Amino acid sequence: MTENGCEYRDRVLTMDTMNPNVKRVEYAVRGPIVQRAVQIERELKMFMVGLRDCDRIDCEFMDGLCGCDWTDCEFMDGLLGRDRSGNELRYGLHGAYSTSQGIEMIRQDIARYIEQRDGGITCDPDNIYLSTGASDAIVTMLKLLVSGEGMSRTGVMISIPQYPLYSAALADLGAVQISYYLDEDNCWSLDICELRRALQEAKKHCSPRALCIINPGNPTGQVQSRQCIEDVIRFAAAEKLFLMADEVYQDNVYADGCKFHSFKRVLFEMGLEYSEKVELASFHSTSKCYMGECGFRGGYMEVVNLDPEVKVQLTKLVSVRLCPPVPGQALLDVVVNPPQPDEPSYDTFIKERTDTLATLAEKASMTQEILNQVPGIKCNPVQGAMYTFPRIHLPPKAILEAKEKGQVPDMFYCMKLLEETGICLVPGSGFGQRDGTYHFRYFSLFTNKNDEISLGYVCDKGSGVLVQKELMGN
Ligand SMILES: Cc1ncc(COP(=O)(O)O)c(C=O)c1O
Repeated sequence: MTENGCEYRDRVLTMDTMNPNVKRVEYAVRGPIVQRAVQIERELKMFMVGLRDCDRIDCEFMDGLCGCDWTDCEFMDGLLGRDRSGNELRYGLHGAYSTSQGIEMIRQDIARYIEQRDGGITCDPDNIYLSTGASDAIVTMLKLLVSGEGMSRTGVMISIPQYPLYSAALADLGAVQISYYLDEDNCWSLDICELRRALQEAKKHCSPRALCIINPGNPTGQVQSRQCIEDVIRFAAAEKLFLMADEVYQDNVYADGCKFHSFKRVLFEMGLEYSEKVELASFHSTSKCYMGECGFRGGYMEVVNLDPEVKVQLTKLVSVRLCPPVPGQALLDVVVNPPQPDEPSYDTFIKERTDTLATLAEKASMTQEILNQVPGIKCNPVQGAMYTFPRIHLPPKAILEAKEKGQVPDMFYCMKLLEETGICLVPGSGFGQRDGTYHFRYFSLFTNKNDEISLGYVCDKGSGVLVQKELMGN
């Protein structure tokens, strides 16, 4: 089978290489009958589009379904009442299940949003899977990729420092974690030589099959350059790696000269040699950026160049959990469908978004500035996302004392800081770091002008310096 003339058997993720346990999964409630029903619904809609205004049909047709008792009520019940021809948002959420891949109309909206973001590069709504936050989609994709035993066990490359979802999911799935280190001395950038080193090392004991990238980065706050993304794509193509691009912070970019480049766009702009070949899943969420609605658990992934048979397996797999939360899906629709210039809420929306992003940018630069005033702390610029991962230089006696207490040194530091000042930080060891280095993760969102005083206090009298001085004096 081919797509754009490209053989699927060349893919990383195929029916032969995918997780065999997923192939065994059966879930009759969302089986072929429901899939056919959805197909018929689409065909009917296409037929009706020829007769009436499309957007209104979306609403009216869906409303028409509300009354139906379809497949044990596991279909959309009073799903969407958004009337796009008026400006009002009218969601009629009745707490029913939706289709497992996510409400079709929302997937279409997401596809349009992605196309706009990516300068018109086509996005097929069928390649969009809504999810319970990005976490759910990331774990689902990893689950598909994990197979083999011993030397053939799937290895997945993740950055160190990393967002701990990745190491936790890999441990849970029994996959091999392949750690590649970000370059702290170069603003936590990604170095292809380091990717190569990690891959060669890993090939001795597992079968590396996926490469995960977080851009902008958590916990490190770096934003990848376009050149770096191109290099990563070339590397993935050469080494036959499935790319997973975690782009949940795509709207959180602050530093001058930094810009968010989506992996999808760069991939397609690199030409057919890559755009037809490299398999990519990219992830987004309602949890971050200027939205910050993490409790709704809205997210999606877009898959590119996925083997069609594997895609069927993916759709089956997501159907087992019935559907992502419908309010989260609706919220995502609001995110990808922001108010337009001719709508009454447009000015308010733009003002709020601009203010929020400006505040986040201000906090990011304040965080770096203030932390760098603390002797013994070195903080890279916060280029994006919402965190920083400053390095702490702990004196040997502090390290010794930590060891005596059976604690890793940065845990010891953070615990002491908490006890003495009430300031709560996350020790760097939870995210991974080079041996012999110590860090903490700091949420730059927590910095504000008044905190300058409290952080100034940290610098001069309180936690950071006091803790270190005390220990150095020991
Ligand atoms: C890099 C990264 N990916 C994924 C997630 C999970 O996001 P969600 O709330 O959408 O599951 C987070 C949450 O902090 C994150 O920082």
